[in-house]
Amino acid sequence: MTADFLPDRPGAGDRPRRAFVGGRTIARALTIADLRAIALRRLPRVSAEYLEGGAEEEITLAGNRRAFDERTFRPRVLVDVSRVDLARDLLGDRSALPFAIAPTGFNGLLWPRGDVALARAAAAAGIPCGQSTVSNASIADVAGAAAGLRHWFQLYVLGEDAVWRGLVAEAEARGSRALLVTVDTATHGNREWDKRNYLGGFTPTLAARIEMLRHPGWLRSILLKEGWPRFVNLEPFVPGPKRDLYTVAAWSLANMRPATDWRTIEAIRAAWPRKLVVKGVQHPDDVRRARDAGADGVVLSNHGGRQLDRAAAPIRLVAEARALVGPDFSILVDSGFRRGTEIVQALALGADGVLLGRAMLYGLAAGGEAGVARAIAILAEEVRRTMALLGLTALDQLSPSVFAP
Ligand SMILES: Cc1cc2nc3c(=O)[nH]c(=O)nc-3n(C[C@H](O)[C@H](O)[C@H](O)COP(=O)(O)O)c2cc1C
Repeated sequence: MTADFLPDRPGAGDRPRRAFVGGRTIARALTIADLRAIALRRLPRVSAEYLEGGAEEEITLAGNRRAFDERTFRPRVLVDVSRVDLARDLLGDRSALPFAIAPTGFNGLLWPRGDVALARAAAAAGIPCGQSTVSNASIADVAGAAAGLRHWFQLYVLGEDAVWRGLVAEAEARGSRALLVTVDTATHGNREWDKRNYLGGFTPTLAARIEMLRHPGWLRSILLKEGWPRFVNLEPFVPGPKRDLYTVAAWSLANMRPATDWRTIEAIRAAWPRKLVVKGVQHPDDVRRARDAGADGVVLSNHGGRQLDRAAAPIRLVAEARALVGPDFSILVDSGFRRGTEIVQALALGADGVLLGRAMLYGLAAGGEAGVARAIAILAEEVRRTMALLGLTALDQLSPSVFAP
């Protein structure tokens, strides 16, 4: 298990009596780390490794967390902070909080109809929700999951152009507000801890299957409520009579498009009338290229440490990216965010907002929609508290001057 990278892990020797919340009651979770502890109790190894894992030595996975330790705050005092406004424009729409749910695939491995649970919790909290191309619920089901949802569709460019054109048309028809084109997957990230659970493709090893049986609650809920998850959005594009999980997964592996370049982004731009964001940008020159290609913004991201190991933490790029493009180009950032103080750092450096991957998935795996709601509430309160303790009442007051020299 890849639990070692979390610096706030309990029982690390120096304070052996410390522990995260026990049991499975999400209302008792005080932090994202508590939700993670509950989630890891509930999940079998195949699901836990999929959720937790990073590429190869997991240097980037750990580095994403450590990067937040490079800065400290220099708060102001005796300011009236009885009201703190946490609302923010994210890709042209008002969001109640300065963060959104990142698009993540295969959520059916964590919770039955996990994609819908994420969307419903996002709508209730008034924040946008990303949906992955390789989600297990359809675009229609997620975009229509709750009234008032700001739905962002994440596109993987796979196979022939007809595939992305079909997905983009569907997202437009279902009212998605933004399209996030993920570009850090020119080839598959190498997550060996995850791979060891499979014989090849998506066939779990005998040991992994036996281990699943030791999680009957999980097994029952996945098999009975949703059935084994499928990549429903890609099924119409897969030739042949069989369109089960294995067949579609094999098709997507065989149809990755390593030849994709900026011309594809320009073509997608021409086809998509709403906000377009390039996700997975890690270099200042690519921030500029994205803007020149007609995108409305970027997500600075290393895919949560799941793609190129030894890639730098995206938080490091925020200030430089903002200085390059000025105030009118959207800069979102993700990878490693688990605390309100970290979200506030990103905003102070110039990000418009933060995307949350695992922080939301820990909530989902711990308790479905209620668990995601708990994760959002924890981070909302942490952001509010951070602002109050900094002596600030609105997010636009944040600037690099909040940091100690
Ligand atoms: C389990 C898991 C599945 C993911 N699936 C996708 C995906 O299908 N498409 C995508 O663009 N990013 C995907 N990501 C990356 C997230 O969108 C986001 O960039 C990343 O989770 C941010 O890092 P964090 O998990 O530390 O918050 C996935 C991440 C995780 C953890």
